Amino acid sequence: MRLSKSLVFSLLGVLCLAIMMQPPAVRAEAPIVAKPIVIGHRGASGYIPEHTIAAYAIAIEQGADFIEPDLVMTKDGVLVARHENEIGGTTDVASRPEFASRFTTKTIDGFAFTGWFTEDFTLAELKTLRARERLPSVRTGSTAFDGHFSVPTFEEVLVFVRATNDRFKADARRSRGAPARQIGVYPETKHPTYHRQLGFAMEEALVAVLRRQGFSDRRLVFIQSFEVGNLKQLSRLTPLPLVQLINAGGQPYDFTVSGDPRTYADLVTPAGLAEIATYAHGIGVNKSVLFPRDGAGNIGEPSDVIANAHAARLIVHGWTFRAENQFLPANFRNGTDANAFGDLAGEIGTFLDAGMDGFFTDHPNIGVAARDTFLAAP
Ligand code: G3P
Ligand code: CA
Repeated sequence: MRLSKSLVFSLLGVLCLAIMMQPPAVRAEAPIVAKPIVIGHRGASGYIPEHTIAAYAIAIEQGADFIEPDLVMTKDGVLVARHENEIGGTTDVASRPEFASRFTTKTIDGFAFTGWFTEDFTLAELKTLRARERLPSVRTGSTAFDGHFSVPTFEEVLVFVRATNDRFKADARRSRGAPARQIGVYPETKHPTYHRQLGFAMEEALVAVLRRQGFSDRRLVFIQSFEVGNLKQLSRLTPLPLVQLINAGGQPYDFTVSGDPRTYADLVTPAGLAEIATYAHGIGVNKSVLFPRDGAGNIGEPSDVIANAHAARLIVHGWTFRAENQFLPANFRNGTDANAFGDLAGEIGTFLDAGMDGFFTDHPNIGVAARDTFLAAP
């Protein structure tokens, strides 16, 4: 599926018009949301440059239950939606001579990165940049949207979601039909220890923005992080559900800093999961941890992580489900073109059959169809 520019801009026009016309101890528990949720990973990032209001709007249009903004900070302490603080790969900053002097190398969570960094830009400066497709050789259709969209603040994302939810409520009232569809947000704090070392407290900033925009419904927010310390801090700041991210290797960076030897693999043992359940409601897991691949890249039987997490009363969300063959297990690929779409719906169905409670996908339309097929099965 390719999105045409005219379709996208028409859709955004309708959305904006519709919005303008509207009046203004142990934390883990049974799943808060009844059915498996579809999370628009960085928006509908398989179709349009990630972390733009347009990407979130398309994800919602395609039926996503939640949209996912990854968050970093500007020089003046504003949370903005980017997957990482280095912005050379997802904006046009490299072509902007006025920012050439900001090009530098930094060590982030123990790794060296060279480029331009959000914390060296004020929000006003960042707003002059335009988003670009991260994977132009893979997602060639998305490059048609390069240069059209700005980098949104977290607050702008919430304003957009709130206005969308108000529109859905008004539509439901008018039709006197089913309850209004409501969209949730699933923000991720990126590099919280690094930001704290720069003097930025992401946790307080995140909670303040959510509160300011009225996001207090525990069915409509999950807060996620790869680090542990900031989730524990968040658990003291907010009753909103928290999700411990689990990577396929390594350890949380705050463990590296403190000398804690535990790895992500240790966190998904029964003992590790029991501790996570003291401060979080769920785990967000690299899909290869849920279904390990064999030497040929195929998946077969699930690991025991979903069952053990459920036994600890933790929900399990998997990431990241992408349609292109290169991101799929070998037994769900179609043909030999790495960038062609394989059987993403089949992959998702396999994970849902194993008990996964929700998933992050770059292709929400395929994810929603797969989820609905799963729910309709006898
Ligand atoms: O947050 C879930 C998933 O998005 C984690 O991976 O690197 O895409 O943020 P990443
Ligand atoms: Ca993320």
